[in-house]
Amino acid sequence: METALTTASDQAEYERLVSLLRGGNVTVLTGAGLSTESGIPDYRGLDGKRRVVPMTYGEFVASPANRQRYWARSFVGWRRFADAVPNDGHRAVADLQRLGLVRALITQNVDGLHQLGGAHDVLELHGNLGLARCLDCGETTQRAELDLRLGEANPHFAVAAGEVRPDGDVLLAEETVSGFHPPRCLVCQSDLLKPDVVFFGESVPRTLVEQCFSFVEASLGLVVLGSSLQVMSGYRFVRRAAANGIPVAIVTRGPSRGDADATIRLDAPLGDTLTRIVRDLQP
Ligand SMILES: NC(=O)c1ccc[n+]([C@@H]2O[C@H](COP(=O)([O-])OP(=O)(O)OC[C@H]3O[C@@H](n4cnc5c(N)ncnc54)[C@H](O)[C@@H]3O)[C@@H](O)[C@H]2O)c1
Ligand SMILES: [Zn+2]
Repeated sequence: METALTTASDQAEYERLVSLLRGGNVTVLTGAGLSTESGIPDYRGLDGKRRVVPMTYGEFVASPANRQRYWARSFVGWRRFADAVPNDGHRAVADLQRLGLVRALITQNVDGLHQLGGAHDVLELHGNLGLARCLDCGETTQRAELDLRLGEANPHFAVAAGEVRPDGDVLLAEETVSGFHPPRCLVCQSDLLKPDVVFFGESVPRTLVEQCFSFVEASLGLVVLGSSLQVMSGYRFVRRAAANGIPVAIVTRGPSRGDADATIRLDAPLGDTLTRIVRDLQP
């Protein structure tokens, strides 16, 4: 069942969003809020406060014990992260691409659900959890394969895991973690295997950022879906669009840092809203 847009002002914002999209040549920037309806929690949620503190890059490279802790948690969390499937919002974004209205699709998500939902040419600002990379020799490994190896190396690693966290890991007791055998690179034996995602304390590759800036600047609008925009790597595109006089539409529940730059602002659930938009845009 569709949620009604409750107020007249929501309805007006919705109409403006539909006409912005109808004009085509729009860049879409998505965040964790697009994947919550697939069961992957976001970082901030409605109150805008950060709920989890993920491991930073500095902590990850600082010690084997930290990597052991990361991989033990991530081993448990990955199973549920990997089971997530695309929702109506992901499918609607793919439909907007098929309708030829999207110039570029930029995501801050690392879950790969856009691609599974039928989208193509996804610009993954923060990488993808489906891949791991050796920080010593550069070798990459599919996460699914790594998961099999971790399972073999840790046959008795049965845990009463808690909630899966936004990074695809879970909280585990220290004594549980200390028995875990973390992965090693098959090429160089290093234990510096890291998921191929941008951790806090790392930066997005410069060439990718520049490519995204070019897309934004050449667009007729920037549409943000499900992001608090607290992370600068996404927020800078909103700033750039606003500085260039390009309309910014934000569809996200709760407050976002881009609200002052937004020309269109809709606080509504994404699955329903995007499905409705695609229906209204059918030729
Ligand atoms: N799925 C993922 O891959 C995932 C999940 C969590 C965090 N992360 C990472 O953490 C950072 C989080 O920043 P962010 O801005 O993307 O997320 P965020 O958690 O900071 O913000 C998500 C926003 O979406 C809103 N929201 C949640 N569910 C919604 C729904 N169904 N409809 C509409 N709005 C909804 C929330 O109220 C919140 O404002 C990113 O850098 C990202 O790489 C990724
Ligand atoms: Zn290696």
